[in-house]
Parts: sequence; C-alpha cells; structure tokens
Amino acid sequence: MNKKTIKDLAVTGKRVFTRVDFNVPRLENGEVADDAKIKAALPTITYLLEQGAAVILASHLGRPKGQVKDNLRLTAVAAKLAELLQLEVLKSDDVVGPDAERLVSSLEPGQVLLLENVRFHPGEEKNDADLAQAYARLADIFVSDAFGTAHRAHASNAGIAAYIPAVAGFLMEKEVENLSRTLHNVQKPVLAIVGGSKTADKISVVKNFLKLADTILLGGGMANTFLRATGIAMGRSLVEEDQVENAAAIMREASKRNVKISLPIDVTIASGKKDTAGAQYVAVDAVPAEQMALDIGPKTRIVYAKLIAKAKTIIWNGPLGVFEVEPFAQGTIAIAKAVAASAAFSIIGGGDVVAAVEKAGVADKISHLSTGGGATLEFWEGKELPGIAVLQDK
Ligand code: 3PG
Repeated sequence: MNKKTIKDLAVTGKRVFTRVDFNVPRLENGEVADDAKIKAALPTITYLLEQGAAVILASHLGRPKGQVKDNLRLTAVAAKLAELLQLEVLKSDDVVGPDAERLVSSLEPGQVLLLENVRFHPGEEKNDADLAQAYARLADIFVSDAFGTAHRAHASNAGIAAYIPAVAGFLMEKEVENLSRTLHNVQKPVLAIVGGSKTADKISVVKNFLKLADTILLGGGMANTFLRATGIAMGRSLVEEDQVENAAAIMREASKRNVKISLPIDVTIASGKKDTAGAQYVAVDAVPAEQMALDIGPKTRIVYAKLIAKAKTIIWNGPLGVFEVEPFAQGTIAIAKAVAASAAFSIIGGGDVVAAVEKAGVADKISHLSTGGGATLEFWEGKELPGIAVLQDK
C-alpha cells in the first residue's frame, strides 16, 4: 500500500482519533448479533494501546440521518468491545460536545473512549468542515481503520484528515493489500461469482467484472433476469423486466471480450420462500408458470465447482440463492465449499456471503473475507475511495 500506516508515526503518549467501522448487525434487543467487524479492528486498537496511546474511537451505526436515535446508540457496541479487549471502554453520550470533551480531556494513555454514533451529528455525512475540525481538536493523530466506510467522504473518515496527520490502521492496510491483488499483477484465470437479488444494483458489478475476469458465474435472483434475456420464461421468478435489455447487452459485450458468463442450468424451485416443503429441482427452461427459482440447482453446482477449481483468483459478491432459508441455502453453501477447496487466492466481499461462508464452516479456508460491502465493490470498480485518498502517502 502506498499510504503511511500507524507504524510510520510515533503514537506513544498521543491522543489518536481512530475511525472504525462498527456498523454491525444487531439483534432486536439492540445487542450485537455479529462482532466480526469489531474483531477486525482489534489489532489496530491493541497496538495503539500497547504503544501507550490514548485511543478515541469513532464509528457510525445504521443511518440515523443526523438525528439522535436511541436504538442506534453505540452502548451495546462499547460493551462488546470491552468484552473483547478485556478492558474498560468509556463511552460519551454525544459525538462532539461537553460529554466527549470532558472524557477526552481526562483520557490517559492506554485508555479507550468510544464516541457516540457519528451519524447522530448532522454535519457528519455532509463532511462539514467545522465538525471535522472539532474531531481534529480532540486528538493529535488520525488513524483510519474503517475500510467498510472508505467509499464515503464524511467528516470522521475523510474531512478530519485535513487538520491532523492521517494514516491507515492495520485493517485498512490488510484490506487494501488483499483487494489490490485482484486488480494488479493478478494471477489468471480470474473467476468472479456474482449473486444477490437486485439486478439493477448488480448489473454494474457484472459489467465491471468484464474488465477483470475471464469467467463470471451468475446466481441469485439477478441470474433470472439474465436467463430471461436468453429467452427463458422463468415462471414467477424474480425478474427485473427493465434490466433484461441491459443483461443482454452485457452478455454481448462479454462474448466480444472473450469473457465466459455462466448461467444456471437448473434451479431449486418452490411456490415462494416460505414453501420449504415444496422445494424441488428443475432445468431452467422447465420452471412451471406458478413456481419461482430460489437457488441454483445441483447440476449447476457441479458445473460451477469445476470452473472454480480451474481459477487462480476468485472474487465473490452476493449469495446464489435465498440462503437464509435452509432448502435454498444449498447452492451458496456448495459454492462456498468449492471456493474453499480451491488453491486460488479468494476474496469475498459483502456481509451476506461472509455469513454464508461462516454457515458453511469454511471461513478459514478463504484467503480474505473483506469487511467492506459497498466499499469493496467501488474498489473493484477501480474508483479512488475518498477514505483512503486522504491518508498520507508513503
Ligand atoms: C457498510 O456496512 O457497508 C458500511 O458500514 C457502510 O455503511 P453505509 O452504507 O450506511 O454508509
């Protein structure tokens, strides 16, 4: 990575404003449902504490749009962090303001303070300069470890960098280095797997992968739109009619570029997501008028697994079926196992697939599980992410 990291600065005795992405899935009672993003930031936090820095953490949670929402307070996140660090974590009731200032002024080296949800402040998402300066006044150094938020230009992850020295944390460094391996000096053949339900969102992802990949495997609801573009009826399956022409254009472009796009040859169907008893396998051109495709079928899994076995680099975004419902999770699980069994360098981006890979019990066999969703996709689009651009060059 061509950006400075926390190893390039002396942090001992300094107050370090550390932007993390603790935007974690929550249970109905507000508790943390999945602590993967918090765990991913621990190496940076622990290093700073061991070096004798006073650590001020900042994160967003959800999208409160500049308003204080009690159900989006970071209280449960602070408790989870304290449990993981085995250390007291102080927490302010405001983002910047009397409570944050009081706690920061008495913060000692080796102590951790978590500020309240930065998106409670109306200036955060506007990248307001006054707010960015107020953050900067709290600290001597800015460390960004929030790769998952790096595609946003907000006050706490971009604006602040104009006022105090700004460097990357270990998670940011790890994400950028791993993701860069899929863009530069890539080991070919490159295989991309794209799933998920929203064709409109995923079309640009597939389009972009035409530049990176030799083979693209499609699954999930969006594959139905591509199948429709080849003239297949697909029963009541989710098909985005207004995207059919775009899907056809992508397939034409793929054949011009010599990129192989693989579509399912069979699917798991049922009358709906809840019809778990009615699940059965049919060829893609045999979906009855009143049924819908909810997963890739067993023959497709075998074809896809063979293609996966030939790849040297694998990029995966989006589940291949309705993986939260057992009979429709099998395709995603089979593909997760195939990716895990391959010797390729593999990267998975997006919370859904990371959860699916964990469910399949093969997370430790994937080269890199990215904490980024949208950030990973924008990185793969070759965009410069504002949260990385603002950090000091090496
Ligand atoms: C994410 O969960 O992808 C990041 O935390 C970014 O969240 P956002 O899409 O609300 O900016």
